[in-house]
Amino acid sequence: MRQPLVAGNWKMHGSRAMARALSQAVVRGTAELDAIEVVLLPPYVLIPRVSEEVADSAVVLGAQNVATAREGAFTGEISAPMLREFGCRYALVGHSERRQLFGETDALVAKRALAALQEDLRPIVCVGETLAEREASETEDVVLRQLDAVLSAVPEAQLGQVVFAYEPVWAIGTGRTATPEQAQAVHALLRERLHRLGAEIGRRARILYGGSVKPGNAGELLAMPDIDGGLIGGASLVADDFLAICEQAA
Ligand code: G3H
Repeated sequence: MRQPLVAGNWKMHGSRAMARALSQAVVRGTAELDAIEVVLLPPYVLIPRVSEEVADSAVVLGAQNVATAREGAFTGEISAPMLREFGCRYALVGHSERRQLFGETDALVAKRALAALQEDLRPIVCVGETLAEREASETEDVVLRQLDAVLSAVPEAQLGQVVFAYEPVWAIGTGRTATPEQAQAVHALLRERLHRLGAEIGRRARILYGGSVKPGNAGELLAMPDIDGGLIGGASLVADDFLAICEQAA
């Protein structure tokens, strides 16, 4: 009942030429994959270019972050109405790189999620523990704290619009992925928390896994019962790799 979602987070990579070629390859390569939702998350300046390329396809566009305000004196920020105007349907919030490198707090992440929802932009809320936190047996506390910050800010009626992503920080860009069992355990924990808000909320919530997902490990991760898709970084920059992952999710 949960449609798998595969999102390609290009992070700060790309050019207009690359965006065009990669989007075209993804549109072509996923044309027959009706069972899954495919989302591309390019850097802000490439959004108009990708938007043109995916316009007549089922590929969906999203952004890597979103401002908390609709407009105003917030130099360097991009608001949800702006993203909607350029065709975005999703926005990542709380990616660990934003949390770690740019000091984004749980409270700020929750505000961003709410700002997105108010403009009909679906937030993909990222949670995940660092290696030190895992080694200190703090994984559960950390991911539930991050999740609860968003759950307490978002009205229950809008929770169905939220996508969640578990990304262990130690697995991002390191080539070291969580085992399917490690990932499944955290996904089940997150779903159980969502379930407490309502059986339907828990059943329907899509929870993606991210962290060194590649064609070689995607199948076993995506086969786990509570993993509903992938948030792909490095492998989303290589058309063949990204498409191979999409095929395994379909
Ligand atoms: O948003 C994507 C994640 O940070 C995963 O990145 O696939 O390069 O490890 P990665």
